[in-house]
Amino acid sequence: MEENKKWWKESVVYQIYPRSFKDSDGDGIGDIRGITQKLDYLRELGINVIWLSPVYQSPNDDNGYDISDYQAIMKEFGTMEDFDHMLSSAHERGIRIMMDLVVNHTSDEHKWFMESRKSKDNPYRDYYIWREAKEGKEPNNWGSCFGGSAWKYDEATDMYYLHLFSPKQPDLNWDNEKVRREVFDMMKWWLDKGVDGFRMDVISMISKVPGLPDGSKGEGALYGDFGPFVINGPHVHDYLKEMRRQALSGYDTITVGETSGVTVEEAVRYAADDESELNMVFQFEQNDLDNGEHGKWNVKKIYLPDLKKVLNRWQTYLEGKAWNSLYWSNHDQPRVVSRFGNDSEEYRELSAKMLAVCLHMMKGTPYVYQGEELGMTNVPFDSLEEFRDIESINAYHEYTENNLAGKGEMLEFLRYKSRDNARTPMQWDDSANAGFSEGTPWIKVNPNYTKVNAAEQLGRDSSVFRFYQKLIQLRKQNPVIVYGRFELLMPEDEDIFMYTRTYEDKKLLVICNFSKNERKIPLPDEFAAGSVWISNYGKTEIEKDIALQAYEAIVVS
Ligand code: GLC
Repeated sequence: MEENKKWWKESVVYQIYPRSFKDSDGDGIGDIRGITQKLDYLRELGINVIWLSPVYQSPNDDNGYDISDYQAIMKEFGTMEDFDHMLSSAHERGIRIMMDLVVNHTSDEHKWFMESRKSKDNPYRDYYIWREAKEGKEPNNWGSCFGGSAWKYDEATDMYYLHLFSPKQPDLNWDNEKVRREVFDMMKWWLDKGVDGFRMDVISMISKVPGLPDGSKGEGALYGDFGPFVINGPHVHDYLKEMRRQALSGYDTITVGETSGVTVEEAVRYAADDESELNMVFQFEQNDLDNGEHGKWNVKKIYLPDLKKVLNRWQTYLEGKAWNSLYWSNHDQPRVVSRFGNDSEEYRELSAKMLAVCLHMMKGTPYVYQGEELGMTNVPFDSLEEFRDIESINAYHEYTENNLAGKGEMLEFLRYKSRDNARTPMQWDDSANAGFSEGTPWIKVNPNYTKVNAAEQLGRDSSVFRFYQKLIQLRKQNPVIVYGRFELLMPEDEDIFMYTRTYEDKKLLVICNFSKNERKIPLPDEFAAGSVWISNYGKTEIEKDIALQAYEAIVVS
């Protein structure tokens, strides 16, 4: 089938978490001028789209994912002039900017909510989801993603409002046409400014099942699960189609939905090739694989055949119907080299490169999260006081106070899975604070910055940075990497992730060893005289029976 060619299918996206990227004014918080200073670094890496985590005005209960004004810039990050300058500087370098669109909820300090809570007949009342108490208690049993009930009692009108995240993030009522119009107008305001698209925060949760029924409660669970009544809800596709018609059509954009709970069947609706809704979605099945009894809080390692099964399903089911996004990391996930690779001194770089090959050779648009291109690792947090993330801190209290986990055990879980692992400052060089800030950083710096930093890697041909650069170049030069059909080989193997990509008369073989084990793999005949495109062991030739070394990755055509 002839592929529908699009620039956003051929792009590589780089995610910036502005708070932790580069501080230009010494207040310890990254900012927009800091980003502008580093655009040449990103051009050198070769990416052509930046996804910017929220930069809007916010009281920072959830680091900017709680927005109090969608058309103003957060004070710590700079001014609207700084933003405009960054945008034009990025465009001059051929880099597009994708904004984070957080519209499942606002901050409770947004003017709509401040009005809404005043009285039952306020014109903004119905912008949010208000309910009466049920038998003197919360309107239903839902728990919030950040712990506690998903409802907060508000004295002014003696009613509760819904917040799927923190109480400072009240959910908007998308069934209200006025809310949708406000959101679409705001999107157009940014598009008219010249931004190039949106990453849509928890967009699969905007449409709730009417009646908001109680959710089922697992054994020992404190709250009911809102999932079935919120995720991929009854009107989500109608609302996104409306958004396409009212806000996006007429602009040449890139759009990606953050869609927890999305299945492949749903994804071909959200990200259908006819572009009636979004261009692509982020699936969570790969991240849920190491969940356990306490959800994400554990130290379980992933079982490779499970990971292959999930990715194979996404690669094959969407073929010809919808487009994939490819990611290992973002600001909500721990560092991938510590999670799916091996962050010991011996294997950190090898396994970071192997993971990069595995991801960047698949079909879809790859996303690189800041620092991933250096093989940045999880952080040795010493105590709870060193964490800043609301989810991690709340989970610690909820689990330890309800005897679901011991204190030491919970700290270990946080060290492995906390979002703060991804949020420590970008490691630019080996000077104080990793060259991130001249002030005191808002969160600790990973002490390994003296060894793991951009300056060192830019100066060394064998670095992880140079390897990412090469992978990104290969994608730009070879349509088979963008458009080739994916086929998984050896699905049950516990160490090796191996697949082919086929496009017109080109075929690629990708072999990745996810383990320390040395393995002999017979090469399929058609590749016996193949040429090596990239290898993390510097190989330039391929043997008939490849002896794969620890964390080896090789691409052959
Ligand atoms: C998304 C964001 C996450 C945030 C949450 C609530 O999952 O990626 O960082 O906490 O939505 O906005």
